[in-house]
Formats: sequence, structure tokens, C-alpha cells
Amino acid sequence: MNCEILHTLYIKSNGEVLCNDDYGERVTLANVSIDLQNATMQDLFSNQAYQHIRESLSGGQIPWEGVCEHCAFIRHDEPYADLLAQKHITKLQLEPSLLCNLNCRCCSNDLQIQQREKPHLMDPETYGSVLSSLKDGGFRLDSVEYCGQGEPLMHPQFAEFAVATKKYYPHAWQRVITNGNFTYQKTLGQAPVDEIMVACDGLHQESYSQYRVKGKVEKVLQFMSDAVAARKKGRPQVIWKYILFEFNDSEKEILAAQDKAQDIGVDTLVFVVTHSEYHSQKYTMESIASLPIVSPKVTTNAHPSFFDGVRYGSIKKTLARSVLDKLSKKCLARIDEVVIMPEDLLQIRGWAAATDEIERIVVSIGDKVLGETLPMDLRPDVEAVFPQFTRQPMGFRFSTKIEQEALKKSVLSIELYNQRNKRMGCFRFPCVFN
Ligand SMILES: C[S@@+](CC[C@H](N)C(=O)[O-])C[C@H]1O[C@@H](n2cnc3c(N)ncnc32)[C@H](O)[C@@H]1O
Ligand code: SF4
Ligand code: SF4
Repeated sequence: MNCEILHTLYIKSNGEVLCNDDYGERVTLANVSIDLQNATMQDLFSNQAYQHIRESLSGGQIPWEGVCEHCAFIRHDEPYADLLAQKHITKLQLEPSLLCNLNCRCCSNDLQIQQREKPHLMDPETYGSVLSSLKDGGFRLDSVEYCGQGEPLMHPQFAEFAVATKKYYPHAWQRVITNGNFTYQKTLGQAPVDEIMVACDGLHQESYSQYRVKGKVEKVLQFMSDAVAARKKGRPQVIWKYILFEFNDSEKEILAAQDKAQDIGVDTLVFVVTHSEYHSQKYTMESIASLPIVSPKVTTNAHPSFFDGVRYGSIKKTLARSVLDKLSKKCLARIDEVVIMPEDLLQIRGWAAATDEIERIVVSIGDKVLGETLPMDLRPDVEAVFPQFTRQPMGFRFSTKIEQEALKKSVLSIELYNQRNKRMGCFRFPCVFN
């Protein structure tokens, strides 16, 4: 059993170290504001709470009964690993501010402000002492993420945090997660961050502000434009995060957002499926493959790494298949990834391209037809290797519920049909699931 708590660190604005930012926010592991007065970060990582986590996970037990069962970070099938013991932290997550300028409908921010002890704006000196203790202790730190249960850019000295990180760990990747209702130059203009993830759930004020209460979508779009304009050598990367709610999931708005993202020049627009109240009924984990993607640099969060209990399929590529691929001038298809998500949800990502237009892609396992999909995503990486296929959407995604029994016949087939319903090709992929 494993969990990322033994290679990450989550510090709240008041100095509390919590058991990550999901359900584990109910468990306090330490408090840097108090503990660092006469101890080091290394001492803190050896305290009773951390030892309990180690003993539990290495013994195949969850550390906190009633908590870990609900936490997104538990990995039942992953082998135990303790990077903290090797002085390696992959991510330090910092909450510079618990305060916020918005009132999003499902956020626990208001409640936390009432319940969590102050300060609700982190003292930059506290953060400095964390970094210096880590550095003195010989810890490696790969990345810092500024995000908690408030709005990081509400901190009037936000840039100081990023400058301090740069001073102690110049190579750590710095990511800030924000609602973007700010003036870019005033908040991030002087902050050496590498990535900005901007939550902008909608393109129009009427749909956007139904969730992001008090937010102004024009301000957020301007914030992203200014961030892109201020980029030097591709930094900071700008990621537009669009959570799919019932108020912003019309096809028209989703397509218009993709156009806007391209106009602004963001690096990625990611459509995110949520399970919270008001979530989109149209696009769930099961149906996200039908979300139309018409621009490059657009993606969704239906990524297996976010889930516990995912089974990966590996495609066996036979010699005959490689030879046939080389000979195939008119059409080709590949599967990039096949996974079984929790609740027996089969998810396939791949690409199909042809010199004729592809009207439908039929997906089967053994002789059982599972369903149909369409190529919807642009794939410049494929075009670079196979120039015979003109610029056309090639990437496809497919998801469906599958019975365990069907997985025994694990040859996946991808058939391509043109507009005249003529089969252009059939590609078979022997697949083994872990
Ligand atoms: C509490 S917010 C703090 C950062 C910042 N204030 C923001 O909203 O982006 C942390 C993360 O939760 C996300 N979030 C907010 N409401 C959500 C919801 N209903 N479902 C999924 N994620 C949500 C935000 O987009 C953000 O990435
Ligand atoms: S799974 Fe348990 S130990 Fe791991 S982060 Fe969540 S609450 Fe903490
Ligand atoms: S902007 Fe972020 S922190 Fe603020 S209320 Fe919305 S989700 Fe919560």
C-alpha cells in the first residue's frame, strides 16, 4: 500500500502540516510555526504521526481509519515507498492565503475561515524557516504548488514566497493555482513562477458566475492574456482549467472556449470532470470521451493517475503488425493507452488517420462490438511522423462500461469507416491487463 504523503508536504497558512489537501485535511501531522522553534524539518518528519503513517502503510494498513477510505491519495496496489526518508520531497504545497475574494458555491473556504486558527495569511518568515531547514537538512525539493483552500493571490506579499523558493531551490518548478480575478502585473508581475493554472469555468458571465460567485469572467480572461504576454522563454506556462458544471457544458460554449483559448495563446485548456454538486450531467467520467475537442492544446482530466485501483493494459505489438503499419499508406490506427478505471470503466485513447475522411470508428473486444467514436483531437505529433495524412482530427477517446468476462478475450479492434460506410481498415491490438 502506498500514498503520496511520504513524498509530499502540505502546509496551511497558519503553519499546520495536514495529511494532504483532500479528506486528510482532518488530520494534523505537525505545525511548522511551533515545531521549527526548537526542531528541524527532519525531526518533524520523524514525529509520532509520520512514524504511524510509515508503520501502517508498510504493513499494508491504512493509517487513519475513517479518513483514508475517502481520500483520493490512497493507492492500495502500489508498492510502499518512503522518499521522505531519503530526503526527497516531490511537491511542497503551500497555502499562502485562506482568504478569498470569491464565494464559489461548493467551496469549503468560508467554513475553514471560521474553523481554522489564524493567521489566514501566511507569514513569509515562517515559509523562509521551512525552506532554510529543508536546505540545511539536505532535502531535495522538486516542485512547489501555491494552493490551498483559499486564494493564493489574496496574499499581498505573494511574490516574496516565489522569490524565497527561487533563492533556496532555484530549480524547483513553481505552480500557482488561482481564480484569476486579479491584475496580473500587480500580483504575479514580479513572481518567478513557472506555471499558472487559472480556474475559469465558462466563457460567458452568466454561466461563469453561477459557480464563481462574485467573479468577473472578463477579468480572468484579461489575466490570462496578460500572463501570456508577459511570458519570457515560455515561462510561465498558462493553463486554463474549465470545470464542467451543469451551467457551462453546452457544446456552443465548450467550442467557443476552445477558440478563445487559441486566441489568448494559453498553453493548455483542460476540461475537468468534477463529482461536486452542480456537476455536468452531460460530461461525466463515463461520457467525457464525447466532449468535442477541435483545437490543439485542449485536453480533459480523465487521467488514470488520479484514481486508485486503475488497471493498465499493455498492447503487444507483433512483428507482422509493424510490417503492415509500414506498408499501410491509406489508413492507420494506434492505441496509445488502455485502462480499466474503477467501476469497470474501460477507457481507450488513440489515433486513427486516413487519406479519406473517417466517418466512424468502431471499437470491439474479441467479437463483441463495444461502441463507436470519432477522431476529434488534432495530433501534430502523428502528423510529424506520417506526413501522408493531411491536417485532420486524428486523436480519439472512447469509454464504456465493460464486463470482467469480456476482458478475457483481450484483442481490441479498431475499424475505420468512410462516409460511404465502406470499411477502410481494421486494426487489431492484443492486449494484456495487469
Ligand atoms: C479551493 S481552490 C483554491 C485555489 C483557487 N482559489 C481556485 O479556485 O482555483 C483549489 C482547487 O479546487 C478547484 N475547485 C473549486 N471548486 C471545485 C469543484 N466544485 N470541483 C472540483 N474542483 C473545484 C479549484 O479550481 C482549484 O483548482
Ligand atoms: S490516504 Fe490517508 S495517509 Fe494518505 S494522504 Fe490520504 S489521509 Fe493521508
Ligand atoms: S476561488 Fe477558489 S478558494 Fe475561492 S471560493 Fe472559489 S474555489 Fe474556493
